[in-house]
Amino acid sequence: MEKKCLFPMLGGFLHGGDYNPEQWLDRPDILEKDIEMMKKAGVNSATLGVFSWSMYEPVEGEYHFDWLKNIMDNLYANGIYTVLATPSGARPAWLDEKYPEAMRVDWYGIKNHHGIRHNHCMSSPIYRDKVSNIIHELAKNVGDHKGLVMWHISNELSGECYCPLCVKRFQKYLANKFDNDINKLNHAWWNIFWSHNYNNFEQIEPPYVNGEKSSMGLDLEWKRFTTWNMNDYMKHEINIVKKLTPSIPVTTNFMQLFGGLDYRVMAKELDVISWDSYPMLHNDYETFTETMQNNSFDHAVMRSMKKDKPFMLMESAPGTVNWHQFNKLKRPGIHSLFSMQAVACGSDTVQYFQWRKGRGSFEQYHGAVVDHLGTDDTRIFKEVAELGASLKKISKVAGTIIKAKTALLFDWDNRWSIDNVKALGGESKKYEKVCCDIYKEFLKLGVEMDVIASDDDFMEYDVVIAPMLYMLRQGVSEQMRAFVEKGGQLLATYLTGYVDEDQLCYLGGFPGDGLKELFGVISEEIDTLYPTDVNGVLFTDGSEGVVRDYAEVLRVEGVDILGTYKDDYYKDMPAVTSKNTGKGTAYYVGARLDMMKMSEIFKQMLEKAGIKIKELPEGIEYHKRSADGEQYEFYLNISEQRRVIEDVSGVNMLTGQRIEGKLELGRYETAVIA
Ligand code: GLA
Ligand code: ZN
Repeated sequence: MEKKCLFPMLGGFLHGGDYNPEQWLDRPDILEKDIEMMKKAGVNSATLGVFSWSMYEPVEGEYHFDWLKNIMDNLYANGIYTVLATPSGARPAWLDEKYPEAMRVDWYGIKNHHGIRHNHCMSSPIYRDKVSNIIHELAKNVGDHKGLVMWHISNELSGECYCPLCVKRFQKYLANKFDNDINKLNHAWWNIFWSHNYNNFEQIEPPYVNGEKSSMGLDLEWKRFTTWNMNDYMKHEINIVKKLTPSIPVTTNFMQLFGGLDYRVMAKELDVISWDSYPMLHNDYETFTETMQNNSFDHAVMRSMKKDKPFMLMESAPGTVNWHQFNKLKRPGIHSLFSMQAVACGSDTVQYFQWRKGRGSFEQYHGAVVDHLGTDDTRIFKEVAELGASLKKISKVAGTIIKAKTALLFDWDNRWSIDNVKALGGESKKYEKVCCDIYKEFLKLGVEMDVIASDDDFMEYDVVIAPMLYMLRQGVSEQMRAFVEKGGQLLATYLTGYVDEDQLCYLGGFPGDGLKELFGVISEEIDTLYPTDVNGVLFTDGSEGVVRDYAEVLRVEGVDILGTYKDDYYKDMPAVTSKNTGKGTAYYVGARLDMMKMSEIFKQMLEKAGIKIKELPEGIEYHKRSADGEQYEFYLNISEQRRVIEDVSGVNMLTGQRIEGKLELGRYETAVIA
């Protein structure tokens, strides 16, 4: 595997963040100081123009790019490269005034007023046209600038639009999907129920909040459509920059596990994945270690969308954000740990929102590298500068990637379908949490895990965990069978294979589509427990696990019963099973077992697959990045105590120290071992 450096011109990592010099054009002293301070902080990139439309085009058709050129020139002359946004994330007032049809309509069907951000209709031809103009002008003026290294499309694309144009597009999308046959749609959505059959596609309305809220099929297709339409809008922007500046790579900034868009669809259009990470550090509802582990999961989701190259941490808060319920300061030392975690997880960048705080308006108190105080001796500035120096020390790591032999199946379609289930527990479905918790168990075992969709290719892995795979899409069960036959270790849980991609239940027993044979189980009933209910599983080796929330009553055939229920009317009935097929094994866990017990099953699977577990002290996160025969191991102390790790061998690139045996890490400390 060759190294794939995202920014070869930097000879290492990209370090920088959102920079809004347009707010300071009347303060050349500040702009000058910015450059000086960026160099001091080891910053080699600035993200420009995210919200600069009204500066570029203050009135329709009148363009001003000189200021931008000057800024880019100055930055470049000082070794600082530009990530340039297309400015469509917020619209100038003249645009909304003249073309109000380009603004969004909400889910009551009410038109938005001018303001905020992300307020444009994705279908609007006028908006696309205006966006096209401004991007053309932008590219014409600075597209060939030597400092330009990346296009950043719009900003945190999100939201839905219920305007008449979008409704029409939705109807067309459905007609296309269902072969212009309304009866096909009626059948797929089971519209005979409550007399909901449509006569034609024009009758279909989106799921207005005061409208059709009772159709699972409609709801799911609306979500798929919103992704399709947003993606179509994004492609409109991408096509323009690709045509004008074919050599500049393209990204857009994703947001964590954002539920409104299927990022996997959008990822296909991008050259690089980037995302904005703002976890609630030091909160009062979980340990610091857990917060960091959860963040690691988010990194894995992003990383796995393009596994063969690094991703970008496009935004993070150097200090605090301004929009959490409580905006707690990052404690000393966290900045480095948090940033190094991104790098350890495969990022080739550490970027911030924002370089300098704006004096007024909505984000005036949002953390920044440079505070209103304006000096380079603040704690935050010093920590950023320290990180800048550290990134230089490990610059050889850039371009390497993580290679995982285990995978977790997690995807948006399944997530949306589970959200839609009108049964089970209102609060206890927690699909995302279950996925994250499983990832965390592998993390604690020092085993890398990709997070992929159920219809991705998973034949290359040795262990696959498929939690709560409620929606079983076409082809998934065949791949599962082939995976097990070739020697794969596969695990599925309660709630597997209930519905197909239209959300119609499988007939003849869950899990459907041939999986009941592969796992040797039929889930006859599922018991939804109250939060205070507890059951247990007794394992054949004498151990016990705790069951909460969900317990399936199983019929089994041809399986090894690994554990049976401890209580209730289904006491002694099978709860956890395994079945060998070909060279592999298919495990079925019929209940929501505690993660400690789950981890024991994972260990068994890893052992069978010949994957080595690492002995790590509690609160040590481990990752390995490699390529070109080089290998870099990251040990992150995400605990609040000093930790000692055994059997480490190599040079700590951050300290220059050679380690043979014990590696000691202070709280929040990181080591990168070459
Ligand atoms: C998002 C946006 C930024 C900024 C930050 C604040 O990530 O992309 O423009 O508003 O939030 O945390
Ligand atoms: Zn619209």
